[in-house]
Amino acid sequence: DPDDLTTDVLVIGSGPAGASAALFLATYGVQHIVITKYRWTANTPRAHITNQRTVEIMRDMGIEDEVLAEATPHDLMGDTVFCSSLAGEEIGRIRTWGTHPEREADYRLASPSMNCDLPQTIFEPIMISHAASRGSRVRFDTEYLSMTQDADGVTVQVLDRLWGHQYAIRAKYVVAADGGRSKVVSDLALPMAGEMDIAGSMNIVFHADLSAYVAHRPSVLYWVLQPGATIGGIGLGLVRMVRPWNEWLITWGYDISQPPPDLTDEMAVEIVHNLVGDDSVPVTIRSLSLWGNNKMYAERYAQGRVFAVGDAVHRHPPSNGLGSNTSIGDSYNLAWKLAHVLRGTAGPGLLDSFDAERAPVGEQIVLRANKSIEEFGALLEALEVTGTDDVEAMQAGIDGRADDSADGAEKRRRIRAALELKDYEFNAHGVELGQRYRSGAVVADGTEEPAYTRDPELYYHPTTWPGARLPHCWLGRDGRRVSTHDVAGHGRFTLLTGITGRPWADAAAKVAAVLGVELHGVVVGPGADVTDLYEDWSRLREVAEDGCVLVRPDNHVAWRSAGPVDDPASELERVLRRVLDR
Ligand code: FDA
Repeated sequence: DPDDLTTDVLVIGSGPAGASAALFLATYGVQHIVITKYRWTANTPRAHITNQRTVEIMRDMGIEDEVLAEATPHDLMGDTVFCSSLAGEEIGRIRTWGTHPEREADYRLASPSMNCDLPQTIFEPIMISHAASRGSRVRFDTEYLSMTQDADGVTVQVLDRLWGHQYAIRAKYVVAADGGRSKVVSDLALPMAGEMDIAGSMNIVFHADLSAYVAHRPSVLYWVLQPGATIGGIGLGLVRMVRPWNEWLITWGYDISQPPPDLTDEMAVEIVHNLVGDDSVPVTIRSLSLWGNNKMYAERYAQGRVFAVGDAVHRHPPSNGLGSNTSIGDSYNLAWKLAHVLRGTAGPGLLDSFDAERAPVGEQIVLRANKSIEEFGALLEALEVTGTDDVEAMQAGIDGRADDSADGAEKRRRIRAALELKDYEFNAHGVELGQRYRSGAVVADGTEEPAYTRDPELYYHPTTWPGARLPHCWLGRDGRRVSTHDVAGHGRFTLLTGITGRPWADAAAKVAAVLGVELHGVVVGPGADVTDLYEDWSRLREVAEDGCVLVRPDNHVAWRSAGPVDDPASELERVLRRVLDR
């Protein structure tokens, strides 16, 4: 009887945030229903850069191989080109997404998983199908209409868009993953900062074999600067690889103060031919859409029993490729907490840490993504193509970079500096992996936060300081390599210690039994549970061999102890009670 439809968690939306929430909840055995407005998942490629954090989360879910099999690999991602058209002159080229040999080491050292390029149209079905096979009940064509909350749960009115009838779903908790125009967030009136629709963009998805122009400089992004291409100024277009090298997406700006352009296939083909610089290339237009650039984030992500994730709470341009990655990160942070609270192994206070931990991340990435757009200005200024509508003057500015003169040399220096600034968009490893959470679900160990020795946005700084992401290194199990992230994760708490720290591992077993929580003590050392294959863990752990590092199910450090204590079981129980609000 639909009138009594009840569930533990209702997930609204099946984009990266909702589909991943479903995957995590299903994997953790949490009963839930997903509703989503349309008949299927995303209909255009949109998000694609899949960073290491996301791939390692999929590894934790056991589906990394499938993600990588469907994705364009790391080594085809990074020769990002700036040009006047694909067939025309190249203005500059930078190595992106960690493909510079120097940066590649940073990326390989930081995670068991490399980044890849996976369009949303392929990624969402992978997540949603694994979620469904693990127990999600997914209702397509089902729209959220309204909700009311009381002390025990949330009653959500939904519309079946096939039959046209409305019914109610009663849930203990709601995950609102309904995207950048979130009705849930506006119904709850969550406090928001910033503004929406600050610039307009159009997406043109098309098929065309462009191998001749790109295969020798493989990248996911080709930036095209065209004088006079937009009304009154330089046109900055993006030709983005969807599948190498015959499926593409062009993003092209339009003036948002004017009525939206009435884009036809003919106009789209003309834009494609202009940016490619060759109008003999056969082009098949697959879809056209318009979207707004936003700079908006929620200052609170939760109200009562409703938790908002993804674009619903952070809305920003695609720069840095953070949209879908951050959305998945939100859900990964929330899902294990919901699982514990619903199982009764944590108090409701654990859920307060979701907002405390993720809202600062959302603010950071919204500001970062917008700043990355502004930083394109340095390149345009170096080329002297700003502040004029005169196409010839702009072209002369671009051509001036070849001048055999002091001015030419100065221009070349400025172009180089402007391209280097783009590392903050394309090689921002610290932004991707560097989150250090501060909340009630992290217990301080009395040490100072470790200082950043390199730029915190560009470089990831591994640390076991409580709240930080567990540093990755390779350990050995039966002679095979396993990551610290493989040893931890899997929905459990993990305590890592050394051979002289065995009392900690014994304490972990005791405390797990007392609290009814999955807590897995792992001794690292010769002949122990895992070996320190390259001695990397002893270099990274920042505690003595007889100390310990307590890791949460989401592979963030909950707490650590520098060395032994008199009564490790009661110390560990105290800490876990704090983390779990018990
Ligand atoms: P998303 O918007 O993906 O999903 C929302 C879900 O909620 C959908 O399943 C929808 O059906 C559902 N829904 C909405 N209202 C509902 C209702 N009332 N009831 C039930 N269900 C409802 N990012 C990036 O990194 N690189 C890029 O190139 C781009 N490009 C891009 C282009 C365009 C046109 C857009 C709109 C967005 C991008 N993005 C992007 C952003 C990226 O797509 C975005 O960050 C993620 O999709 C966010 O995932 P969410 O799951 O939060 O929302």
